[in-house]
Amino acid sequence: MFKAEVYTNRRNLLRKHLSEGLALLPANNESPMNYPANTFHYRQDSSFLYFFGLDQPGVAGVIDFESGEDYLFGDDLSLDDIIWMGHLPSMKSLGEKVGIGNILSYAKLEEYLRNAMQKGRTIHYLPPYRDDTMLEISRLTNLPWDQVKSKASLELIRGVIALRSIKEPVEVEEIIRAVDISYDMHTTVMKMAYPGIYEREIAGRIEGIALSHGSMTAFPVILSMDGQTLHNHYHGNILEEGRLMVTDAGAETVNHYSGDITRTVPVGGKFSQQQMEIYEIVLKAEVSSIDQIKPGVAYREIHMDAARIITSGLKELGLMKGDVEEAVAAGAHAMFFPHGLGHMLGMDVHDMEGLGENHVGYTKEIKRSDQFGTAYLRLGKKLQTGYVLTVEPGIYFIPALIDRWKSEGLFTAFINYEKAGSYKGFGGIRIEDDVLVTDKACKVLGKPIPKTVEEVENTMKK
Ligand code: GLY
Repeated sequence: MFKAEVYTNRRNLLRKHLSEGLALLPANNESPMNYPANTFHYRQDSSFLYFFGLDQPGVAGVIDFESGEDYLFGDDLSLDDIIWMGHLPSMKSLGEKVGIGNILSYAKLEEYLRNAMQKGRTIHYLPPYRDDTMLEISRLTNLPWDQVKSKASLELIRGVIALRSIKEPVEVEEIIRAVDISYDMHTTVMKMAYPGIYEREIAGRIEGIALSHGSMTAFPVILSMDGQTLHNHYHGNILEEGRLMVTDAGAETVNHYSGDITRTVPVGGKFSQQQMEIYEIVLKAEVSSIDQIKPGVAYREIHMDAARIITSGLKELGLMKGDVEEAVAAGAHAMFFPHGLGHMLGMDVHDMEGLGENHVGYTKEIKRSDQFGTAYLRLGKKLQTGYVLTVEPGIYFIPALIDRWKSEGLFTAFINYEKAGSYKGFGGIRIEDDVLVTDKACKVLGKPIPKTVEEVENTMKK
């Protein structure tokens, strides 16, 4: 938890975006795994954490835009709770930690909101992504449950995104902490990626590193020799000499800020000539993209430039052909690079995605493309100082995609299908870092994680 003034300041800044009504921010509940008392690891809602700081279920926060008052609704633990779960500070002292003196029992929330609604005041809330939160908002506001999501407040969504997008120095420190734990994860992976070991042994070590730092992983570990599957959560293969292994993994700090790093390593410690050729193209796209990051540049332009670098590199290898600009404009590169260059990063690994990807990553002027590949770009708009984002180009040989496009006769002027077919079984390569947009350029966050062919091979030797 940060100092109380951090939360007070954020709530007051939100008042510059909304002047009428009140904002209701419910905390996340516990989520049962297989019976009510056996729950998944608890994760608080990020916007609740951002404004109210408390990392526990059973509470809700209210920001009144007219009176200037803030409220926390929640109850002290019962004796039964204390016996089973231990002591928690009282709601009064928790409120003090986040700058709130107005503490009311959770049962009072309904009455409080009814009074506000009777006076015709607007209850602003964010789109719920958990069904239990949706039902609770429905109960509290009298809205039918199936209208709750669509009636979420656009003003509040925009206000929250405006604030959470610009990372405060304390937040950047947290993300650096997350990346530094991710450094431990990825350098450990590099030392373990030898033939004969199960992927799950390495994935388990990554989880253990996160837990041993008192934190958790920011998202389920993606780790596989079949790196052509972009989000591969199957870790049941035994590593084989000559294959590549993609690891996309990051830690989430105790204060719930994320790291999101990808590295690709050759099983056994040495890249083959063919692997190195593709690796160098991805690395060039990544480094060049980072070099272009500065305030005012649209991230979509940097994404398109990465697509051109990838296309041009693949053309040199004979995998693509024709005019690079035309190939990228047509979307042919997306057979090899079928995802976006990156996304916002913060308390959520895809930061604020629950508030609506297009609200977070696009504007009226820069709208999301509907072309295959570019459509997956989560952040297209102009960058601003204080944004933290991922840069994660990749090249993949996805047999099903190669076969489908070939059979449909797509982009035959730009793709050498015979050669692409010979790369089936190669897998994929992705390289990803986390970057802060500064006043004039950008800064790669955290301890530098081995990235060049030489750095990766040297780390694997140790
Ligand atoms: N690192 C996982 C993702 O960006 O989707």
